[in-house]
Amino acid sequence: DKGGWPSFMAKEVSEEPEAVAKTVLGRVKDGGIVIPELDGLDELFQGIDRVIVLACGTAYYAGLVGKYAIEQWARIPVDVELAHEFRYRDPIVGSTTLVVSISQSGETMDTLMAVKEAARLGAKTLSICNTQGATIPRESDAIVYTHAGPEVAVASTKAFVAQITALYLLALHVGRVRGALAPSVAEESIDELEALPAKIQWVLDNEQERIEQLSHWMGDTRSVLFLGRHVGYPIALEGALKLKELSYIHAEGFAAGELKHGPIALIEPGQPVFVMVPSPRGSATLHAKVVSNIEEIRARGARVIAVAEEGDAAVLPFADEVLRVPLASPLFEPLIAVVPLHIFAMGLATAKGLDVDQPRNLAKSVTVE
Ligand code: M6R
Repeated sequence: DKGGWPSFMAKEVSEEPEAVAKTVLGRVKDGGIVIPELDGLDELFQGIDRVIVLACGTAYYAGLVGKYAIEQWARIPVDVELAHEFRYRDPIVGSTTLVVSISQSGETMDTLMAVKEAARLGAKTLSICNTQGATIPRESDAIVYTHAGPEVAVASTKAFVAQITALYLLALHVGRVRGALAPSVAEESIDELEALPAKIQWVLDNEQERIEQLSHWMGDTRSVLFLGRHVGYPIALEGALKLKELSYIHAEGFAAGELKHGPIALIEPGQPVFVMVPSPRGSATLHAKVVSNIEEIRARGARVIAVAEEGDAAVLPFADEVLRVPLASPLFEPLIAVVPLHIFAMGLATAKGLDVDQPRNLAKSVTVE
């Protein structure tokens, strides 16, 4: 039931705040993270020396974001790998490796086979999944469910923000169990997590219409580029994937620092480029570098659409459009900044008269390898 929305995707984007809230719900107690599903696993978390995250598509990008949080809060090295690539090399995995799989459906064959291979090699497996009782969680040693609710549209939206949320909960939990996380950092992070739904809602309430307008003006665009740095980089990749899958136009995400190593050659007058601008309150250096990237591409005629936090005036002289997001500390920005990109991809596909719920050639759950 679309509940009065024009598409399942529109409904699911509107549920992004709730997907985060429900994934956090019941997992914060007395100011700390409590994940009942992980009871009794402290020894496992204390004994690992490495995490490998395995997933495909949008879930893989959630994993790329999660790497920053797990490394920062739990101080364990994390590799994030496409599940279908993992199995076809000779991965170095053992009993001190924790393999975290991420899958909305829990049925993605590539991810399932990779989890089985990791288990065969002796790794401990933990599944982050949105579907109760699906195959991947059943094959795993531990499960952390996302509570995004059923996702019907082929393009993953609310499950993505719920996956990042679950990874953050896991990172905070493991960080505490390993004694790697300062209580003050845990406290601030929990506050940030709990504040997220209202911030995402703010984007939907205040920017959705403008983003939809923008996407309608851009209905005949043939290529869009997305740039990001740090946690903004996986968001750039996610923005590009969503645009490809929904509107069938060429879209590519780059790490902003990579521009001068090749992609800047693509910039010609009129080329639309989304730039995820990190908060100047996080790292002033990173912020300045991204602003200078914007200047460079603008000087070559790019049409810059900046996704920047409210009050960031540094981008104004160079950006053609600024999509505003509420302030959040750096690790939490991606959960908010991705929302304009979801709205944009949906808007552009709608402007082209395409079916946003069922894009051509794609299935919601990819159960073949
Ligand atoms: O069900 P899963 O999370 O395992 O699915 C993984 C990908 O197939 C999925 O995220 C796909 O990339 C989406 N269509 C992206 O919107």
